[in-house]
Amino acid sequence: MVATSEFIQCELKNGVLVITINRPDKLNSLNKQTIEELHETLLEAENQKEISAVIITGSGQKAFVAGADIAEFANYSVEEGKQLSSIGHFKIFNFIENYSKPIIAAVNGFALGGGLELAMACHMRVVSENAKLGLPEVSLGVIPGYGGTQRLAQLVGKGKAFEMIVTADMITAQDAYKWGLANYVTKQEDLLTKCFEITAKITTKSPTAIKTAIKVINAGYNNKLNGFEVEIEEFGKSFGTKDFKEGVGAFMDKRKPEFKGE
Ligand code: COA
Repeated sequence: MVATSEFIQCELKNGVLVITINRPDKLNSLNKQTIEELHETLLEAENQKEISAVIITGSGQKAFVAGADIAEFANYSVEEGKQLSSIGHFKIFNFIENYSKPIIAAVNGFALGGGLELAMACHMRVVSENAKLGLPEVSLGVIPGYGGTQRLAQLVGKGKAFEMIVTADMITAQDAYKWGLANYVTKQEDLLTKCFEITAKITTKSPTAIKTAIKVINAGYNNKLNGFEVEIEEFGKSFGTKDFKEGVGAFMDKRKPEFKGE
């Protein structure tokens, strides 16, 4: 079981690790310690075979994550600002995007700045009706520094990304859905149920194939790689896995597969 820490609560349910960012008095904003604890939690969960997928949410009913902790970086220098961004990319945002198990953001309220960037680094987003999403950094005289300038444009297109970033406007859950930023919108009380509905489908599938699919989809967004070539390579490799033998064998035998993730 993955341990709970000061700002990160963990609960394992039906093969799914639910991570709750737990700093409600600061609207779950991401200070250094929370980033570190979230990184450690994800690292620990990655090698645990009983965990097939992860859901990340925020504690309370008001906020998913209201951004990076503004008080913490208020007096940063240029060099410290650069470090804040690069450490965040490495420990959380790129780490989540390239995680070997699907991660769903259950956006239960404000997802602002680093909070929206966290949700965008996840593989899917389910958003509650009351949520407000935005990248308000230009209001503070900075820009999004946790991948927001890149991932927002990938998800909603360049025009909407420009609009959201330069106006700093928050958008509603319904607009997020219409623009492709949210996979689903639910009532707040149904948010986790919807996430579990998705993860229930994932937990019965081949972990090795899912890991590979995440890698290959991401390859298409990496300027240094040719996604189609990576796909050909990885498709071929799938034929050498035990999961492939099991999946095809089960189909032929008309039984349910029992994947071992090998
Ligand atoms: N960093 C640090 N503290 C934050 C925070 C952040 N990103 N967002 C909220 N908080 C803190 C507030 O300072 C306040 O703490 P306090 O009670 O000790 O004063 C507490 O969380 C509650 O927030 P508050 O602003 O009083 O709630 P609200 O309902 O009036 O407003 C928001 C909610 C989300 C609109 C507002 O908190 C906000 O604009 N937050 C910053 C969002 C942002 O710019 N994020 C990008 C950062 S780069």
